[in-house]
Amino acid sequence: MHTERFLITGAMGCIGAWATKLLLDEGIDVAIFDLSSDDRRLRAIIPGDELSTVQRITGDITDREQVRDAVAGRTHVIHLAALQVPFVRANPSVGAAVNVTGTVNVFEAVKDHGVEHLTYASSMAVYGHPRHYNTDVLPPDAERLPETLYGVFKVANEDTAGIYWQDYGVPSVGLRPYTVFGPLRDQGVTSQPTLAIEAAVRGEEYHIQYGGVVGFQFAPDVARLLMMAARAGPSGAEVYSLRGDVVSMQEFVNLVVEITGSSTITHAKDPLPFPHGADDGPLQERFGEVPHTPLREAITITAEFFEERH
Ligand SMILES: NC(=O)c1ccc[n+]([C@@H]2O[C@H](COP(=O)([O-])OP(=O)(O)OC[C@H]3O[C@@H](n4cnc5c(N)ncnc54)[C@H](O)[C@@H]3O)[C@@H](O)[C@H]2O)c1
Repeated sequence: MHTERFLITGAMGCIGAWATKLLLDEGIDVAIFDLSSDDRRLRAIIPGDELSTVQRITGDITDREQVRDAVAGRTHVIHLAALQVPFVRANPSVGAAVNVTGTVNVFEAVKDHGVEHLTYASSMAVYGHPRHYNTDVLPPDAERLPETLYGVFKVANEDTAGIYWQDYGVPSVGLRPYTVFGPLRDQGVTSQPTLAIEAAVRGEEYHIQYGGVVGFQFAPDVARLLMMAARAGPSGAEVYSLRGDVVSMQEFVNLVVEITGSSTITHAKDPLPFPHGADDGPLQERFGEVPHTPLREAITITAEFFEERH
């Protein structure tokens, strides 16, 4: 019998839906906490009878009491509830409340209930534009130089984790994805490569509004890694960058064109204000084999997902 009882915040989103599915596949007890009750992403990948076993809590991560109640009785917490770059840019105060205060609420709840398995999503956005670094793939000790408010808030999350370890001995693992892609990725700046695959499958035109070299991570791989991190029994305020596939946008588009047979996808040249990618040596050392679906296979799976739904 499983003794793990997971709570996933932000589970109605892309990565959270994948984590929910993968845990249910293992027969794990899962509760989810989200402001939204729109479960279309969960329904797209989880059969109804399995989904009905999930305990759903509709709540606001900015509400300390609601978060505290949701964490009660849970052994593992995967914290993903957040607003992405465009939403933070559109409303910085709400962005700070959700991304910063919300994360503090999770740490408070985990501290109060003595939960020892907490993992949360940071982001490569803690780093700055590639021009600040004299290397393409960042070393683990690269300086954090966020150039968006979203990135500043993620730095705050990592430093919050540091203080909760220092002052209260609350352990955690923060993971920094970059461009998460694959089925269910449909919002945020870095959703554009996935939206391009969907458009290619439909035979529609799509222009990705940035270019340069980008680190791609397949959404189910990120979910698997979050599960591994939560289970690892962290021994401090650990933070790791994810590497995935670091390739140019042109290479990504070429693969999409080759796999889907569509030639209607284009991209702009300017890179995002984030580095190309990061060395994941420390992540591999810590967790052994890092889940990694090869890029071609991951794009094929994504295209098949959209084909089925088309
Ligand atoms: N997708 C990426 O490429 C990427 C890259 C780096 C980091 N991340 C981080 O990973 C995490 C998950 O990303 P995602 O792509 O699944 O995001 P998503 O936008 O698909 O999902 C976020 C979820 O958070 C929920 N949420 C928003 N405000 C809330 C609130 N006040 N209370 C409770 N729930 C709330 C939303 O309803 C949504 O279901 C986020 O922390 C994000 O910053 C994502």
